[in-house]
Amino acid sequence: MPDFPAGFRWGVSTSAYQIEGATTVDGRGPSIWDTFAHEAGRIVDGSTGDQACDHYHRHAEDTALLAGLGVSAYRFSIAWPRVQPTGAGPANTAGLDFYDRLVDGLLAAGIDPVATLFHWDLPQPLEDAGGWLHRDTAARFAEYADLTATRLGDRVKLWITLNEPFIHMTLGYGIGTHAPGRALLFDAFPAAHHQLLGHGLAVAALRARTASPVAIANNYSPVRQVGDTDADRAAAQAYDALHNRLFTDPLLGRGYPDAPGLDPAVIRDGDLDVLAAPIDVLGVNYYNPTGVRAPEEGSPLPFEMVPLDGYPRTAFNWPVAPDGLRELLRQLHHRYGDALPPIQVTESGCAYDDAPDAQGRVDDPDRIAYLDGHVRAVHEAMAEGLPVTGYFVWSLLDNWEWAEGFTKRFGLVHVDYPTQRRTPKSSYAWFRDLVRR
Ligand code: FCB
Repeated sequence: MPDFPAGFRWGVSTSAYQIEGATTVDGRGPSIWDTFAHEAGRIVDGSTGDQACDHYHRHAEDTALLAGLGVSAYRFSIAWPRVQPTGAGPANTAGLDFYDRLVDGLLAAGIDPVATLFHWDLPQPLEDAGGWLHRDTAARFAEYADLTATRLGDRVKLWITLNEPFIHMTLGYGIGTHAPGRALLFDAFPAAHHQLLGHGLAVAALRARTASPVAIANNYSPVRQVGDTDADRAAAQAYDALHNRLFTDPLLGRGYPDAPGLDPAVIRDGDLDVLAAPIDVLGVNYYNPTGVRAPEEGSPLPFEMVPLDGYPRTAFNWPVAPDGLRELLRQLHHRYGDALPPIQVTESGCAYDDAPDAQGRVDDPDRIAYLDGHVRAVHEAMAEGLPVTGYFVWSLLDNWEWAEGFTKRFGLVHVDYPTQRRTPKSSYAWFRDLVRR
């Protein structure tokens, strides 16, 4: 493995609902994921995040795992319903106390706390009022950002407003396979605009409370056009606009691209200036490229997604394509030039069916190969002069993978859910050695 510059930020990522459990403890209110997971048929194995990895009670053990890994940063998310159980009103001190303990534990271990404010667990009362389809949710989000930064702004080293607003809009409001389970297809656009508006308002709220840098974590997937007709080209462009540009162009001052579903009536005067509040870092979550071709006649979508041949696959059936990460980093640079802030890879990882062997060891060579390829891709992009400042693995622990429940394991650390026993996998040792070097 080639050398990385000193100061390169190595880390791992998690999110609140996927690991914390303790969903009714210390005044936490219900989130849309509590509601959704408890509805029959939503989650493949019928599980919920009620217990997850019980990180709420085991955070000291998990911080020790981070320290053993030697990472310089840990990206976690804050559960909005712990801070504001109903999504409005004063802060719930007991909820913030938990993050206070976590942050202090990280700092004591020499690890920079990187906090995401919204990783999809909207307080249920806000969803009852319309969720992100409702403009007021953006203002509520800024208020929550203010309360949180008032308590933690002196110690969190990097703030991330939203996690993957594209995925939240598409799966949560577009097709309904994620909470809140709405299937509005292209009528979901208000959930895009209001998340971005909330981001912009939260950036302003954070700036007033902290000197730490502020970012957003977007999901990107370079598009591989399948077929060579004009219709295929148009389909690839439409998908690219939706997935890769809708949540980035306006942030970097370009306004909205011509994306399917975009409804100008939702955008009010002045909004685009709020969205374009300067950010210090662009968080990039990358998993795989997407194959796209022209849709069948009569399809409700202006594109069709198709499996890409010739790649190994993860347990999620996602293609393993490190070249896609390099391509994506180049594309961001090419698209935004000087307007592009430094990039932090905020998620990169893979699911495999890892299980302990007879000796209790968990050997995951496929994950090591995956990470090795993606880390090298980052290095190559940096050698070309692209501004990448860090790489975070998704995820520290095997955890509750949304609609897939406990069936997909992404961790460097294996979790036996019934006993909550943590076992570092061979990829944990591999990553530790890489970070050490
Ligand atoms: C990302 C999410 C993260 C996790 C990984 C596998 O889209 O941000 O919570 O589910 O995918």
